[in-house]
Amino acid sequence: MIRRPRRNRKSAAIRKLVAEKEVTTGNLIHPLFLVEGKKVDEVITSLPIARRLSQDNMLKEIEECMTVGLDKFIIFPKIPSKYKDKKGTHSYKSTNFYLKAAKEIKKRFPEACLISDVALDPYSVDGHDGIVKNGKIANDETLTVLQKMSVAQAAAGFDILGPSDMMDGRVGAIREALDGKGFVDTSIMSYTAKYASAFYGPFRDALGSAPVEGADIPKDKKSYQMDPANTREALIEADLDTAEGADFLMVKPALHYLDVIHALDTHFDLPIAAYHVSGECAMLLAACKEGWLNYDEVMPETLLSIHRAGAEAIITYFAKDFANRSFYK
Ligand code: PBG
Repeated sequence: MIRRPRRNRKSAAIRKLVAEKEVTTGNLIHPLFLVEGKKVDEVITSLPIARRLSQDNMLKEIEECMTVGLDKFIIFPKIPSKYKDKKGTHSYKSTNFYLKAAKEIKKRFPEACLISDVALDPYSVDGHDGIVKNGKIANDETLTVLQKMSVAQAAAGFDILGPSDMMDGRVGAIREALDGKGFVDTSIMSYTAKYASAFYGPFRDALGSAPVEGADIPKDKKSYQMDPANTREALIEADLDTAEGADFLMVKPALHYLDVIHALDTHFDLPIAAYHVSGECAMLLAACKEGWLNYDEVMPETLLSIHRAGAEAIITYFAKDFANRSFYK
């Protein structure tokens, strides 16, 4: 035999030399759930790796993360029902604790990179990402709310906005609104290919943001989130987002959609982000808790698979554990 591929695997030193990919803490984004009030630190039963935190505790959490090199945070608010309405108007009010918290975090940690969530669902009585009208999601009317929400988030200091709503034309509408108000440096990480996935369950538990039951309310998000059967549609979405001025193209979920990550990485020049979602993470955690899998082994392998498929930026509930292990290694 002239060719013996095993020669390149014969020692740890050589394996490192020929490794094509490596995940670093710098690739990772840590999701955080914000609640109103003080001294709140709640366990999320279906996602035991994450907690709901009030601003004071979130500042502590961010400080801990920053010391181990984890400096990117995507923040989601749990909005009390008293602030919810049909059009999600609380999302851009100056009294919104989410916007206030972002300001405070940026003041304390100016070098931290904060990513927002742009969608109506946490603020909507219907639990949908867009405005519900006559039993349907009103696309163009929703864009106006998304624009106001985006400008308010940019003003609060978010570095990157994350439109997760899947309305048509939202990236362009948001870019136009931001530029109109002078926020030319605020980036857009578009949820380009966001699928109507059942793997968002624990996240909706965390925020109480599932679609509400009602005669005139669509019972799922399938009229705006993508069909898991489709890849070509992801390319159409990516074309539009690129043309409309997105800075990142995101695929969500990640593990079950590695082919889509790869397709976008192959066809587009923008950085690719992947959201390793709550349900994908919860599955692994449950198996590790049972002792069926080894967390220290499957956790980095999982992140590596997402990176290998083509994502530079990975949103994952494993971020802090990965950062801690890399830092103290
Ligand atoms: C909502 C939003 C969702 C997630 C991120 N933003 C849920 C949904 O679309 O219903 C899911 C994230 C996760 O499961 O970890 N705009």
